[in-house]
Amino acid sequence: MVHAHSIPQADLTHAVAQGLANDPKRLPSWMLYDENGDRLFQEIMKLPEYYPTRCEFEILKTHSRDLARYFNEGRTPFTLIELGAGDGTKTELLIDPLLKSRSNFTYTPVDVSRNVLEALGTRLRKKYPDLNVDALNTTYHEAVRMLPDNRKKVLLFLGANIGNMPVPEAGQFVHDIARQMKRRDVMLIGFDLKKDPRIVQRAYDDASGVTRAFNLNLLTRLNAELGAEFDIALFDHCPDYNPESGTAASYLVSLKDQDVLIRGLGKTFHFSQWETIHTEISQKYDLLMIERMLTSAGFEISDLFFDTNHYFCDVVAMKQ
Ligand code: AVI
Repeated sequence: MVHAHSIPQADLTHAVAQGLANDPKRLPSWMLYDENGDRLFQEIMKLPEYYPTRCEFEILKTHSRDLARYFNEGRTPFTLIELGAGDGTKTELLIDPLLKSRSNFTYTPVDVSRNVLEALGTRLRKKYPDLNVDALNTTYHEAVRMLPDNRKKVLLFLGANIGNMPVPEAGQFVHDIARQMKRRDVMLIGFDLKKDPRIVQRAYDDASGVTRAFNLNLLTRLNAELGAEFDIALFDHCPDYNPESGTAASYLVSLKDQDVLIRGLGKTFHFSQWETIHTEISQKYDLLMIERMLTSAGFEISDLFFDTNHYFCDVVAMKQ
């Protein structure tokens, strides 16, 4: 069952008005995920250059039984909450051993995209008719505020989704999660690690242009939903990676001096030639950053799992 807490149209309108009035201009990364954006992200995950999904899949496949043991410790009934559930391919690796070991749990996938949740629900019902699914269509922040209080919680925050928040915000978010948890509740969290900068650069600037299409789709979405008049051919995708901070950032760049009307806002915005709209960050971490973030929020690191290349890391963190 999908509980709707969809992002209302008013939020999109407000966020665009605010983001384009900002200097420099910025639009939040959740805006990338309309139906077309969801589909493009599915394609990104299959790209040869986009390594994070494959790395995490390898980790979860190799260690699914160890992970199930952490989740089911003490055999206490629990809610398995997944922030940013996506298509559930990775989650199935975790659900399988839990069902096999007859764990008592309800699966609560959380996603801002209703399409994604509905597809996931259909897929899971078919594959696991006995699985209790109680989906939440809302943002991560809202979902954390709504976490059930009376049951043990096991929270999945996979796919390096935490990387889409700036480090201070990510730290605050992990704090907020910790505040909603009781002692011995568990979080499994995936971090993309710092590595050869060229590998990161290629992951966000693939040769076939899917990531470019994903980023530009944001403007197509604003044309469709807010009556904007962006000429997509007059903007380009510009990714950037700073190996010192570990921050990969994506921008849309205006290729010429132009004015764009957004009917839904009753406003025209000016873009100078080469002016940017910041759309997304994808933060890469090192182990010290991970340890600092989790321990200062009140978690103890119970285990760390890596893929063979050490590109990615999934951390089992236990609330103290
Ligand atoms: C969803 N998120 C973790 C992806 C990432 O790597 O930051 C989104 C993405 N953007 C461009 N490629 C992938």
